[in-house]
This record gives sequence, C-alpha cells and structure tokens, in this order.
Amino acid sequence: MIIKKSEFSISSPSVVRCPEDNKLEFAFIGRSNVGKSSLINMLCNHKGLAKTSAKPGKTLLINHFIINNEWYLVDLPGYGYATTSKTMRNKLEQMIAQYVLQRRQLANLFVLIDIRHDQQLIDREFIDWLGESNVPFSIIFTKADKLSGGRAKSNALQWMNKLEDRWAELPPYFITSSEDKTGREEVLDYIEEIIQGIENQEAE
Ligand code: GTP
Ligand code: MG
Repeated sequence: MIIKKSEFSISSPSVVRCPEDNKLEFAFIGRSNVGKSSLINMLCNHKGLAKTSAKPGKTLLINHFIINNEWYLVDLPGYGYATTSKTMRNKLEQMIAQYVLQRRQLANLFVLIDIRHDQQLIDREFIDWLGESNVPFSIIFTKADKLSGGRAKSNALQWMNKLEDRWAELPPYFITSSEDKTGREEVLDYIEEIIQGIENQEAE
C-alpha cells in the first residue's frame, strides 16, 4: 500500500456524527499514551497529521483522516486514563464502545500495546470483549525502539502466548516503532490485503 495523500477530515464527538460516505476505515485504540496518534503519523509519513502529546489524554474525539481519497484511518481516544474524572472516563468509554460496535465501515481495529509492559488486565479485558462482540481486530506493539536486541520480539511473543488460555486462534500482530518506522510496510500491506479481500467479496 502506497500512501500518496493523507488529510484530516473531521473530529466527531459520537459515532452518529462520523462521516457518512461509506468508505472503509481502520481504527487505532489502546491505553492513553500508547502511541496511537504517533503511529498514524508514521504510517502516513506525515508529521503533525494526528496530534500527539507526552501527556496522556490528548485525543478526546473520534478523528477521521482520509487516505488517498479512498479510505480512512481513525484515531480514537485512549482508554484507562486514570486521572481524568469518572464522568469523562465514562463518556469516553461509551464513545469508544458505540464506535466499535456500531460502525459498519470498520474494516479492522488495531489494538495498540506498549511492548515494554506485561499484559495488563485492562487490555486483556478489552480484547476479550472484542472477541465476544465479533469485532475484527489485530494487535500492534508500539515503541519497539525502547527495547534493545531481541527483547522486542520475545516480549511480543510472550504477550501473545498469554492469550492462549482463552483464545484458540491468535489474532495477527505487528511490532512497530514510530521513531524508526519499524513495521510500517507490514501494517500497510496488511491494510491493503483487507481492503482487497473486502472488495473481492463485494464483487462476487
Ligand atoms: P492519547 O491520545 O493521549 O490517548 O495518546 P496516544 O496513544 O495517541 O499517544 P501519542 O501518539 O500522543 O504518543 C504518546 C507519547 O509517546 C509521545 O510522547 C510520543 O512521542 C511517544 N511515542 C509514541 N510512539 C513512540 C515510539 O514508537 N517510540 C518512542 N520512543 N516514543 C513514542
Ligand atoms: Mg492520541
């Protein structure tokens, strides 16, 4: 997949306000500060496209970016940001759940995991919930540049293996870094594969 053009489209406070043009979309979710917005910028080779911040809780709306005038990347707010108020947290959780469950155009949800940490309950519960809800998703490990040598790969494998207690078939996963662009081609090729698969299905 070659990205020729990436542009901000719209920020929406709820799923009913999202674009209505029926283009396929790929969304990014994960704990606050895991690197969702940075990954979108890295994939698009477009600094500043999605707003990033060293402070958690930067993205608070559903942000659509139109790619090659054909499909969307979607930046979602992070979950589990402890220091926001309970009301705000509930509001964000509801926004995320509605988007994930109701958005027909959602071709794949990427769940981002910081590669440095052990499996956290909040991520695990979210993933189990996606499975129960039949949402198509895959895992993206972020910040691989922060680990040296083979540690990124072994941490990712260990994390994935922990899913085996409940998951008969493991979802696809990718190891990435927005700093050195690790994993960029793999993620973009995977997106292309999904788009082609859906287009072929529709042509049948
Ligand atoms: P919220 O919108 O607050 O939920 O955060 P987010 O998940 O969008 O994270 P964001 O992309 O804003 O990045 C958070 C911080 O992590 C920033 O300081 C980034 O520079 C840093 N960061 C993101 N990706 C990477 C990476 O691959 N490597 C390194 N070293 N730092 C990263
Ligand atoms: Mg963000």
